[in-house]
Amino acid sequence: MQTNIQIHSLANVDLEELSTLYNLSYQNYYVSINLSLDQFRGKLKMEDINLNFSIGASIDGKLVGFLLYGIRDYNNIKTAYIGGTGVCPEHRGKKITQQMLDFSFPKLKEQNIKNIFLEVNTKNDFAINAYEACGFEKTRTLNSYKGIPILVVNPLHEIVEFSDLDLITSENFWDIKPTWKNDIQSVKNIIEDCQINGIYEDGILVAYKIINKNNTRIYQFGVHHDYRNRYLASILFSDLKNKEIKMINVDEREISTNDFIQSMGLELYDKQYEMKKEL
Ligand SMILES: CC(C)(COP(=O)(O)OP(=O)(O)OC[C@H]1O[C@@H](n2cnc3c(N)ncnc32)[C@H](O)[C@@H]1OP(=O)(O)O)[C@@H](O)C(=O)NCCC(=O)NCCS
Repeated sequence: MQTNIQIHSLANVDLEELSTLYNLSYQNYYVSINLSLDQFRGKLKMEDINLNFSIGASIDGKLVGFLLYGIRDYNNIKTAYIGGTGVCPEHRGKKITQQMLDFSFPKLKEQNIKNIFLEVNTKNDFAINAYEACGFEKTRTLNSYKGIPILVVNPLHEIVEFSDLDLITSENFWDIKPTWKNDIQSVKNIIEDCQINGIYEDGILVAYKIINKNNTRIYQFGVHHDYRNRYLASILFSDLKNKEIKMINVDEREISTNDFIQSMGLELYDKQYEMKKEL
């Protein structure tokens, strides 16, 4: 029997219907995902998901697939980010994902969007196949860690809270740009949920971390390039001694960062690819 699939914008979607389909699609995912409606709203806000550009697939008026697009300037280029893709289990294998992707590209191009990024579990061949068929390429591998940090040094420095995010400059702190989810703009979007603290020396911010207070997820941390190899990162995490923390999207090329995280006793539990398509 021929199924009549309609591909359309999600501009007028019922948010409850969308979040129900989101949870259904990710039910048996590698890392279990089940968001309340409030958590789902928080995800949309954090990732700048814009429902006007996001795409749905419906059969007989029922939503069976979705493609969530965030839009923002990233590396000073107008960029889109796929914050979620899903098709309900009984309609998989019908190329609905490819239809939604193909439908979206001209609309993004019209808005002068140059690149699309996404993250996908390295074991998720079904999704990787669908993305590659539509022109996405793997750009980097990202590690996910969790565990309770072990304190290995005496904290000789005070850890203080600060609010001026402009102090976190890429020149001072980063080797590689954080992914969309860990980007400073994502933090700004949910600033009320974040705790931002660091270590100062002679009035200079020499180490910092940003953590979600509700789920102890670390979005970013860094030690100033000129102050490395002085145990500042270990001291920075000393206030989280007995708490389970999570860090996702740690670029595997950042050898010293990965070594440090593992030295704190955190376990590598998952890997993702970042993929990119140029429009
Ligand atoms: C990944 C997902 C969105 C793909 O959607 P889809 O519309 O079924 O995709 P396609 O029809 O284009 O098929 C993609 C691949 O899925 C596999 N597939 C085929 N039939 C399938 C079926 N009945 N059930 C599951 N997967 C099937 C095939 O390997 C296919 O690759 P191929 O084209 O090389 O044969 C869907 O499986 C899903 O919702 N998964 C759970 C959520 C998820 O993983 N999202 C992606 C996160 S980045």
